[in-house]
Amino acid sequence: MQSILWYPYTQMKLVGHLPKMVAGDGVMMHLEDGRSLIDGISSWWSVIHGYNHPALNAALTEQAGKFSHVMLGGMTHGPALDLAAALVRITPEGLNHVFFSDSGSVGVEVALKMAIQYWKNKGVSGKNRMVSLKNGYHGDTFKAMEVSDDSDFTRSFSDVLHRGFFLQIPEGGFDASAEIVQPAIDRLQELLAEHHQQIAAFIVEPIVQCAGGFRIYSPLYLQAARSLCSKYNVLLVFDEVATGFGRTGRLFAAEHAAVVPDIMILGKALTAGYMGHAATLATTEVYNSFLGDGYEKALMHGPTFMGNALACQIALRSIRLIEEDHYLEKVQRINEVIRDQFAEIRGEWVVEKRVIGAIGAIELADASLLNGFKVSAMEAGVWLRPIGNVLYLMPPYIIDERQLLAILSVMKKWIMGR
Ligand SMILES: Cc1ncc(COP(=O)(O)O)c(C=O)c1O
Repeated sequence: MQSILWYPYTQMKLVGHLPKMVAGDGVMMHLEDGRSLIDGISSWWSVIHGYNHPALNAALTEQAGKFSHVMLGGMTHGPALDLAAALVRITPEGLNHVFFSDSGSVGVEVALKMAIQYWKNKGVSGKNRMVSLKNGYHGDTFKAMEVSDDSDFTRSFSDVLHRGFFLQIPEGGFDASAEIVQPAIDRLQELLAEHHQQIAAFIVEPIVQCAGGFRIYSPLYLQAARSLCSKYNVLLVFDEVATGFGRTGRLFAAEHAAVVPDIMILGKALTAGYMGHAATLATTEVYNSFLGDGYEKALMHGPTFMGNALACQIALRSIRLIEEDHYLEKVQRINEVIRDQFAEIRGEWVVEKRVIGAIGAIELADASLLNGFKVSAMEAGVWLRPIGNVLYLMPPYIIDERQLLAILSVMKKWIMGR
């Protein structure tokens, strides 16, 4: 039968029967057929407080009783002003200006537009190409695909993407020594030295590349990137759509390196999975380049739903929960349990186990080793969805230890039982 609803990343000919969620509470997803699943991946890493959270529900209904949305063109409102101020307060010092949009991909588009126009506004011509990282993923819109590595997501469009430059992340993971990281820094230095006159920005997922396979790299690389970008007049852009709001153990991954990018993008957990929203933050130096007496230098971008009042209120309430309920401690506890359990997981198919913050990923030798995994996990009451050959968990931060162990036990049994 033909499906009216077209699903993401899905061969619709093979789609088959999908589990149907009818309710959620906490980390539990309740299905129409009576089963309940523990959500191991926070609905694509967004639902950090779990489902149906009373405080977030209250923020939503309270704002809906006033107004749900008003255009941000020619009009302003409290929730947008308050959220912008809160984001400036909690992000690394120096990111003083906030541009809202409606999804992570669009937030990336805005960041790349800002970077290209920044140089034009400053009267520097020819700087319009990007540097990004192999295995990186920045979204599905066109410019976001251009800075993402080749993958199943970009394959059909490779002939129309205007590619920039790609570099490998350093080897050795988070704790790599300076010596191990240096060759990757040298490649960056060589590239910028040769091509900086054409390069607008270097965009990275700081510390962890998520959708591209959960690869973790050293903060030393980000520190070097910061000084090389400044030296060669290239903007540094951190895409924290996946890593932001505590996922890596710090509120923002940039903090691991104590580095401030010129532009930073937030999404996903920003609105705790309640609705789509994103924020692109910029330094005063970037912002000031857009100032002028006419429209010529203005940022000509304005998604209809930018600064949506419901989204802003939920984000504000979510930030309060993170701060007041000591979420970074919850993330630390999740990290310890994952590390503990991962230590026991071994097998000839295991290529690498990677853990940071509330992220645990196991790379297997081949994607086919995960055939049938999703169904088997569901039978055990757990919702996990591997990416390629990587089996991973990114649970809501409110998960309790018993639920976390249930997820890890499903992963362990699949790998060790082979
Ligand atoms: C690092 C990163 N950037 C951008 C995006 C795109 O976000 P969205 O799916 O909200 O467009 C994603 C989504 O997975 C992401 O992981």
